[in-house]
Amino acid sequence: MSAFTNMVAAITITGFGLLGCDSGPKLTDEQKRGKQIYEGLCDKCHELIPPTRFTDQVWTAASNKYGTKLKLTRDEVSLLADYLTRANDSESKD
Ligand code: HEC
Repeated sequence: MSAFTNMVAAITITGFGLLGCDSGPKLTDEQKRGKQIYEGLCDKCHELIPPTRFTDQVWTAASNKYGTKLKLTRDEVSLLADYLTRANDSESKD
């Protein structure tokens, strides 16, 4: 068992985790980019917050607020908000 094999296995498993078992709503390409921004940048100061935790209003405000801190472009902020306000619908709402 080489280190290379282990690495391939790890990447494969991770890939399935990200792509295969996504139980959330179908995302557009834009929303997928927003997801990448969220997962890539928004865990610097705190754990990623599950999108379902907050309403659209909170996510829109937070995308602006923390997007500014991270010096995201306007487009990136809007992709991010687009993703979060979509993903928070994934589980049943009251
Ligand atoms: C510079 C550090 C930092 C980064 C980067 C950061 N956050 Fe936060 N975030 C915080 C802190 C600190 C709090 C707690 C704020 C409080 O309790 O007042 C917080 C709280 C939040 C909250 C709870 C609501 C609120 O506004 O207090 C949300 C939602 C949130 N962050 C979203 C994000 C998103 C989305 C990103 C990526 C764009 C992000 N955060 C990146 C520091 C950060």
